[in-house]
Amino acid sequence: MTTTPASIAQPGRNAPIGIFDSGVGGLSIWREVSSLLPSESIIYFADSANCPYGQREQTEVQAFSERIVRFLLEKKCKLIVVACNTATAMAIDHLRRNYPVSFVGIEPGVKPAALESRTGVIGILATAGTLKGRIFNETKARFASHVKIQMTEGTGLVEIVEQGKIGTPEAEILLRRYIEPMLAANIDKLVLGCTHYSFLADDIRKITQGRVALVEPNLAVAQRTKSLLNERELLRDGTPESQRYEFYSSGPIDSLSEMVRRIGAIGTVEMLQV
Ligand code: DGL
Repeated sequence: MTTTPASIAQPGRNAPIGIFDSGVGGLSIWREVSSLLPSESIIYFADSANCPYGQREQTEVQAFSERIVRFLLEKKCKLIVVACNTATAMAIDHLRRNYPVSFVGIEPGVKPAALESRTGVIGILATAGTLKGRIFNETKARFASHVKIQMTEGTGLVEIVEQGKIGTPEAEILLRRYIEPMLAANIDKLVLGCTHYSFLADDIRKITQGRVALVEPNLAVAQRTKSLLNERELLRDGTPESQRYEFYSSGPIDSLSEMVRRIGAIGTVEMLQV
């Protein structure tokens, strides 16, 4: 019998979920996915050698993303979460066209922020790549044309998180530079449009002092992952104790290890530089 692509065995329900980001930021999505789906095994890939993605050309981000997707498919992942707003903006259409696996992406929560704003002004902090992207601009035109949007590129914030400088005066100075003009413009919602920024939420709240609500789609991404797996009958049937967590980095493993420790991944954890 000849083997056609259709007859090649697809990953089954006990295969791992793949999650990737340019660096450690996507661990904020890992945290939600693992807490909503505690029985699932997860392989996380941080592209630390190429981080940050935010200012890069689309072709470059597509090439990096493709390389990671191939790696995750070799590891037999049954679904891939693109835990990076920038890679979603620049590469998810390309990935969906070229790889026969389900992808879940992440985009800034402009829609809920715009619908719930009372002041009629919302702030968005994201990378240049995300703010230029088709997905963000279509969502903005469709759901946020009735509000004023203060868009700011968070240049340097990804590096702050990668270098473990969360909670430092350096982080505060940079965040103040971006957020104070938004507060002056009377925003009541601040959309965190980059998965790294979730790790700066406490630093941000110190500046906003309860005046604005932070909007992050992290839980929605985990819920979408669960419902897709459920639809495709791919939810794992093992116990939480038998799952495995693997973390890979294309660069030095230090900041990934430190962040994994910080988010408290428990169980069988493996770390590797590839
Ligand atoms: N975590 C990525 C995102 O959500 C960071 C992008 C970057 O590497 O600049 O956009």
